[in-house]
Amino acid sequence: MATIRPAVLTDVERIGEIHIRSWQKAYQGILPADFLASLSVEARVEWWRSELTSMGEQDLALVIENGSSVTGFARLGSSADRNHAEVQAIYLDPDHWRKGWGRLLLGAAEASLAGLGWRDAILWVLEKNGPARRFYEALGWEAEPRRALLNIGGADVQELRYRKAL
Ligand SMILES: CC(C)(COP(=O)(O)OP(=O)(O)OC[C@H]1O[C@@H](n2cnc3c(N)ncnc32)[C@H](O)[C@@H]1OP(=O)(O)O)[C@@H](O)C(=O)NCCC(=O)NCCS
Repeated sequence: MATIRPAVLTDVERIGEIHIRSWQKAYQGILPADFLASLSVEARVEWWRSELTSMGEQDLALVIENGSSVTGFARLGSSADRNHAEVQAIYLDPDHWRKGWGRLLLGAAEASLAGLGWRDAILWVLEKNGPARRFYEALGWEAEPRRALLNIGGADVQELRYRKAL
């Protein structure tokens, strides 16, 4: 059975591990292989430790647990222009993809953002991340005509903005 709750500091090791494993699998063939291989779980754990200790009032990190084992997380906040809520990250352990956990976690994230008073939310997704785009579209998110060009690990990649009314 799934439980969804705010992340706490004792979750950072597991969140950091999921974050890197999920990047390495989801972005294979999209981001350079040497860049993905160089990603450090330890560095990501420290990043998360600092993140969880410096979150503002509109910021939230959720984890989803299967029994007592964390299988994924979502990071929520406001968009850079402060006009929308933003799902800044959602990552599940690759061993648990496509089992319905993402749907539960994103649903809980949307409910939390609505509870904070937000009327809509946006997120950015790599144009080439087809599985994630299909996931968001299945949950009612729509691509907007907004794009951003980023350089990640030496590769130029396009991001698309999606939006959903809450
Ligand atoms: C994207 C992600 C969060 C989705 O979570 P998930 O638990 O795997 O997805 P769910 O099982 O809840 O899927 C819900 C629905 O989304 C759609 N969907 C999910 N994954 C899909 C895929 N690979 N291909 C097509 N549709 C997909 C389906 O409609 C699915 O419903 P169904 O299984 O009943 O057909 C997860 O796969 C993940 O962590 N991926 C890697 C990281 C990532 O890309 N994060 C987003 C960065 S912007």
